[in-house]
Amino acid sequence: MKSLEYSAYGQAPEIAERDVPHAATSEVLVKVSGAALNPLDVKIHAGYMTDFFPVEFPHVPGTDISGTIEALGDGVSGWKVGDAIIARLDPSKGGAFAEYAVVSADQLVRAPTSMPLAESAGLVTVGGTAWQVMFEAHSVAPGQRVLVHGAAGPVGAFATQLAVQAGASVFATASAEDADYVRGLGATKVIDYRNERFEDELSDMDLVIDTVGGEVEERSLKVLKQGGALIATPMPPDADRAREAGVEAKFVFHMSDATKLGHVAERADHGVTVRTDSLVALDDGANAFARQGRGEVKGKIIFVPRG
Ligand SMILES: NC(=O)c1ccc[n+]([C@@H]2O[C@H](COP(=O)([O-])OP(=O)(O)OC[C@H]3O[C@@H](n4cnc5c(N)ncnc54)[C@H](OP(=O)(O)O)[C@@H]3O)[C@@H](O)[C@H]2O)c1
Repeated sequence: MKSLEYSAYGQAPEIAERDVPHAATSEVLVKVSGAALNPLDVKIHAGYMTDFFPVEFPHVPGTDISGTIEALGDGVSGWKVGDAIIARLDPSKGGAFAEYAVVSADQLVRAPTSMPLAESAGLVTVGGTAWQVMFEAHSVAPGQRVLVHGAAGPVGAFATQLAVQAGASVFATASAEDADYVRGLGATKVIDYRNERFEDELSDMDLVIDTVGGEVEERSLKVLKQGGALIATPMPPDADRAREAGVEAKFVFHMSDATKLGHVAERADHGVTVRTDSLVALDDGANAFARQGRGEVKGKIIFVPRG
C-alpha cells in the first residue's frame, strides 16, 4: 500500500510502499477513505511535541480517519466488514496517511451519514476538542455570552455551532472574508480581527474560547465578567494573570474517546458542519503540510489515499 512518511523531524513527507498492516486481536483493518491533516500533525512533524508525542522513524503521520472496515481481528464484535467508521489513532503511532490503517476496535465510531465519508475524517479531532471545551471543561448554558476566537477555523467553527445549539449568544473573531461563513454558523456578531479590537466592542462575557493564543489571551481577560472562564486550545493560559483578573482559565488537551466522538458524529447528523479546505492525494503531502503550517487553509485538508 501507499503511505506518507518521514524519517526525521522536519524532513519533507514522502510516499513509501509498505505492506498492508494486519489487524491483531481487538483491532480492525480500515480501508481509508479520508484522513484529516491537523495542526498537531504539523507540530509533531516539526519536532515540537517530543515531550508529549515522541515518534519512531520512519513515521506515518496522521490521527483522524474515515473509511470502511476491511478485516476484523480476533475478538471484535459489533462490527462487520464494510461498515463505515470514523476513528482517532494515537498521535505517537500515527498511521492515518496511508491507504489502510489498523484501529483498536474500542476507538471505532459509526460515520455520520449526512456528509461524504472522506470528509467526515475532518470531524474527529476538531469535534472532539470542541466537545471537550463546551461540555467537559465548561458547561455552556442557554443565555450565556460566549466569545469564540478563531471562529472560522475548524475548532472555533465547531465550538461556535455547539454553543449556538446550546442556546448561548455567540460573538466571534474572524477575518473579514470569513465573516459571512461565521454568521452562517449562528454567531450574532463577527469582529474582523485584522481591523478591529474585540475589547472595544465586547464586555461581560461568561466564556471566551481561545483557539488563537498569544496576545489575544491577555486581551480576552478584559472582556470576561468576574467569575467567567477562558478556555484555550493552542497552549495553557497564564493561570496567575487569570486569577488576578478574577476569571477561571483552563487548557483543553484533546483526549481520544469513542463515546465523545459518537456525540460529535450525532451532532454532525443534526446539522453541525466542518469546512473542508481541499481533498488532496497523498503525493501532495509535503505541500499540504507546508500550507497547514503557514496557516493558508480554510477548513480541513483531507487526504484521499485512493484518489
Ligand atoms: N489542545 C488540543 O488538544 C488541541 C486540539 C485541536 C487543536 N488545537 C489547537 O487549536 C488551534 C486551532 O485549531 P484549528 O484546527 O481550528 O486551526 P486553524 O485551521 O489554523 O484555524 C485557525 C483560525 O484562526 C484564525 N485566526 C488567526 N489569527 C487570529 C486572530 N488573531 N483572531 C481571530 N482569528 C484568528 C485563522 O484565520 P485566518 O484564515 O484569517 O488566518 C483561522 O480561521 C491550533 O493552535 C491547534 O493546534 C489544540
